[in-house]
Parts: sequence; structure tokens; C-alpha cells
Amino acid sequence: MYDYHPLAIPAPYNHSNIDSDEVLYYVDGDFMSRKHVERGMITLHPGGIPHGPHPGTVEKSIGATETRELAVMVDTFRPLLMTEYAAGIEDPDYYKSWLG
Ligand SMILES: [Fe+2]
Repeated sequence: MYDYHPLAIPAPYNHSNIDSDEVLYYVDGDFMSRKHVERGMITLHPGGIPHGPHPGTVEKSIGATETRELAVMVDTFRPLLMTEYAAGIEDPDYYKSWLG
């Protein structure tokens, strides 16, 4: 269930982690706050890089009561280093997913 207060906005807010990298593995379901993110994808938001819901998803989330999504998030204690393999499968247009 999402936050059930009548004035709650279920989508997460934009933020940047100041002291950790953030990795999200999208396991299953319909990922409410993200467009173009599908099951099996992994996102990496290095510390200090602002990120959050994609345009339109905050508005879309209002009134929603629950989600059927499963994701695993890891906030690291130390910066991550990308492997050559990870760099090879990186979506070079990922940053554009925040453009309307
Ligand atoms: Fe985050």
C-alpha cells in the first residue's frame, strides 16, 4: 500500500543522495514512478546526481492506493565503479528519460 493520507502524493520526490550511490533493480511489476523502465533493468544514480519520478508520474500517482511492483534498492557506503561489461550495456539515452 502507498501512503493512504487523502492528500498524500504516492510518487517519490526528486532528490540526490549526498553520501551514497543508489542502485535499483526492477524485479517485477509496473514501475509507477518511471517511464521506459522495465522488469530486469538496473539503474545507477551516483551520489550527488539528482533523480526522481519521470515527468507526469507524480500527477498520475495521485489517488493510487497500492502498487504491484517489486524492486530492490541498494544505497552504497562507498562509490561504485562500473565494469567494462556494465559500460557496454549502459543505455546512453537514460538521462533523456526525464525530458517531457
Ligand atoms: Fe534515489
